[in-house]
Amino acid sequence: MKKTFYLTTPIYYINDVPHIGHAYCTIAADILARYKRLQGFDVFFLTGNDENSQKTVEAAKKANEEIHQYTDRMSQIWQNTWKALDITYDDFIRTTEPRHIQAVEKIFQKVYQNGDIYKSKYSGPYCWKCEAFYKESDLNDGLCPQHLSKCEILEEENYFFRLSRYQDQLLEHYRQHPQFVLPDYRKKEVLSFLESGLEDISISRMGQSWGIPLPIDKNQVIYVWFDALINYISGIGYGKKKKLKYWPANLHILGKDIIRFHCIIWPAMLLSAGLELPQSLFIHGFFTINGQKISKSLGNAIDPVPIAKKFGNDVLRYYLFADFPFGQDGDFSFSSLLKRINHELADDLGNLLSRTVSMTIKFLNGTLQTGQWNSEEDQPLKQNALELLENLDAHYCQLEYHKLLNRLWNLFRLANKYVERTAPWKLAKEKEKHPRLCQVLYNLAEILRIGGYVLLPIMPKTAEKIFQALGHRQEKNYPQALQWGRLKSGSQVQKIPPLFPKVDPSTLQEFSPPPPP
Ligand code: MSP
Repeated sequence: MKKTFYLTTPIYYINDVPHIGHAYCTIAADILARYKRLQGFDVFFLTGNDENSQKTVEAAKKANEEIHQYTDRMSQIWQNTWKALDITYDDFIRTTEPRHIQAVEKIFQKVYQNGDIYKSKYSGPYCWKCEAFYKESDLNDGLCPQHLSKCEILEEENYFFRLSRYQDQLLEHYRQHPQFVLPDYRKKEVLSFLESGLEDISISRMGQSWGIPLPIDKNQVIYVWFDALINYISGIGYGKKKKLKYWPANLHILGKDIIRFHCIIWPAMLLSAGLELPQSLFIHGFFTINGQKISKSLGNAIDPVPIAKKFGNDVLRYYLFADFPFGQDGDFSFSSLLKRINHELADDLGNLLSRTVSMTIKFLNGTLQTGQWNSEEDQPLKQNALELLENLDAHYCQLEYHKLLNRLWNLFRLANKYVERTAPWKLAKEKEKHPRLCQVLYNLAEILRIGGYVLLPIMPKTAEKIFQALGHRQEKNYPQALQWGRLKSGSQVQKIPPLFPKVDPSTLQEFSPPPPP
């Protein structure tokens, strides 16, 4: 039986359309899902929409639409976006679906029966945008630390979750599972919050008509975060199936803004309900656009689909992960996108492929074959490829896509230098150098073939085109395909259109973000 691998993205609020920041997280998960499938895992990749929020009610009102009609329409937009970006999710969960509601009710009952839910009065600063209560000490000059907007003092009689009861258990779990939250600097942030002491949290809202009614008090609805986090198990059949094939999740991927909900509240809820904790949570950084926070009011949210349509999905995927490490914050700018297309993609990779194919056609009638190995010239190239392959699994599994792409592009650059050094056009002039010419072109093709396999999860279409140009049939056994020398002697190369046509800066005008207000 195949080993399972379950990974998730956050479920996105439905009150807005997807932007590049959302695509960033979803594509990161898609890359890992594809990699794990290639490795032979039985992968389950879940994403979806978070719909039971007050933001939904307001957005539907603003759009002048009946709320279910609004959520159906918006959810379709999210799903279409992921389809357009070739996201290979296995299921899409919506928190208004009966399967989710049933699961939420079941978890609520378990937590309640465990004595972890009680009624009490609460008063404190509340941010409607975050849908979260804050401690006075969390506020930034009296404002919400995320949105820098005014918090309202809410006073309600709510149901509370005994989060404080789980402080020691959580600390112990963190101690025993050093990989629970990654990267390490994010874990430290969670730990310092945990150590500062946990307070119980309100998990219901009074007098709201939108949301999942509390099973024990129909005058209240379940707090949207308590509800939304449960998607990670409702989406794999909790409440319906007796045995959950995919639980515990191997990895939740999420942004740094929602770290406390995921790294403290969610594990505490699971402990209370008697369920296992996920194996790991990876926290990524935030995207700014030309140095500015993505926000509705600035009108700078970039839709990823037109970019993918214009330059190809693979270009977008490459750009998002080549620019900066996934854990850290980074900036999106069209000028750096253009540089990467024209230099790294078109020159370093595209040109390497086209010159390898052209020279093989010109000098060897298009047939690749091994010949005479020259250790001094060939070994450094092969060695560089082998070192990359040794680290491949670690880079993918630790979501170090940035390091992986850097290494791969160093290899392509080395291969380009190797072309200059070995000068196949000179070898082609002397008959007795024929075996050497064959080996040089074979080595170049082999670097490209291996590069194709390395890139399959990140740039699947590019990888296919590389294989097509080299006359190589993609192998089913991925680890085997990653060995040096799997390119068959006798493979017939063929010319294909340029992998990455160069982009003229003027074409970017259609994407220009509005000037700052
Ligand atoms: N609905 C909640 C999540 C519930 S999960 C049980 C939510 N939704 S969201 O749509 O606001 O954000 C979802 C994810 O998108 C978050 O992980 C957030 O970090 C990510 N991003 C939103 N804007 C982003 C950037 N500008 N850059 C990178 N990621 C961003 O929170």
